[in-house]
Amino acid sequence: MRLAFLIQRFNPEVDSHSSTRRYHLDVGRGTTVLDALIRIKNEHDGSLALRYSCRSAICGSCAMEINGSEKLACRTSVRREWERHGMVTVAPLRNLPVIKDLTVDMSSFWGKIRDVTPWLTSAPQNAGRPDIAQRSPSPASSHFHNVDACIMCAACVAACTVHEVSKEFAGPAALAKADRFLEDHREPIEAKRHRLTVLEQEHGIWDCTRCNFCVEVCPKDVKPMEAIIRLRRSALAAGLTATGGARHITGFAELVRRHGRLNEALMPLKILGFNLRRLFTVLPLGLAMARKGKVPNPFAAAIPGAARIRDIFAASRRHPGAP
Ligand code: SF4
Ligand code: SF4
Ligand code: FES
Repeated sequence: MRLAFLIQRFNPEVDSHSSTRRYHLDVGRGTTVLDALIRIKNEHDGSLALRYSCRSAICGSCAMEINGSEKLACRTSVRREWERHGMVTVAPLRNLPVIKDLTVDMSSFWGKIRDVTPWLTSAPQNAGRPDIAQRSPSPASSHFHNVDACIMCAACVAACTVHEVSKEFAGPAALAKADRFLEDHREPIEAKRHRLTVLEQEHGIWDCTRCNFCVEVCPKDVKPMEAIIRLRRSALAAGLTATGGARHITGFAELVRRHGRLNEALMPLKILGFNLRRLFTVLPLGLAMARKGKVPNPFAAAIPGAARIRDIFAASRRHPGAP
C-alpha cells in the first residue's frame, strides 16, 4: 500500500517557521508510524530529526502528534491512522519548544517533575534520618493508582489545555508523580502536609480545568486528572482551604447544599470573601453576565426539594468512599 505522509519540518538554523513536507512510502501490514518515519529518514531524507529508543512503548521518547492527537509513534499503526483519517500527518508535541522537526525540548517538563520532589522526604524533625523516612509500617497499604506506570513521554503535557495558556502550570505528569508520593505511606504526615502546601499554590492542583485530555492521550492509563482530583481532596481534607481554587469548590458545594442549586451571584463572595478591592475587580464580569441574564437573584429561596439534596450531602459525609 503506497501512502502519503505529511510531516511537519522545522530547522532552526535556516527556517523562520515550520512547514509541511509530503513523503510517499510503500508500507506493509503492521507498519507503525515510527517504522515509517525511520524509513523516510533512511530512504528519502536523512535530515529528518526524530527521537526514539525502545520501539516498544517503554521509553516514552517517540511521543508526537499524529493526526492531531498525541501518541507514541512506535505503537501507532499506520494502517489504522489511514483508515480513520484518510491520511497520516505527523507533528512535534505541542506546548514544548521545538528543537528540530519532531524533537522537542523536554527541559521544562523535567524541571516540573523535579519541582514536585519526586522522592520520599522526611518530616522536618527527621531530617538526616533516612532510616525513619524509608520505614514502611505496612508496605501493602500504599495505592499508587497506576501512576508508577508513567513513562515520561509528555503526551499529557502536550494535550493539556491549561499548558496551552499557562506555561507555569505544574502539569498533569508532574502532579500525577506528586500524587504517587502523597499516597506512599512511608512518608510522614508532616512531610505530606508540606507537599500539599506547595502543590496548592498558584500553578498547582487548582489550575487544572478538568478537560480530561491528559487521560485520553496517556498511553499508559495513568489518568493524571484523577490523580489531581485525589490531590485536591487530600488538600481539602488537610484543611488547606484558603486558596481561590479550594474556596471555589467548597463555596460551590455549600451553595448547592443550602439552596439546592448553584447561585452564581454569590460565588464571588464565596471565593474572594468580603474584600471590596478584589470584588471590584470582578465587577465588569458580573455586569456583563447580568446584561445577558446570567446572574440569578442572590436572595432567591431554595429550590423545592432542597432538603433531599441536603440529605445527599449528609449521606456522603457519613460514607465518604461511597460511589
Ligand atoms: S485535565 Fe487538567 S491536567 Fe489534564 S489536560 Fe486537562 S487541564 Fe491539563
Ligand atoms: S502521565 Fe501518561 S501521558 Fe503523561 S508523561 Fe506519563 S505516560 Fe506520558
Ligand atoms: S520508542 Fe520508546 S516509547 Fe516509542
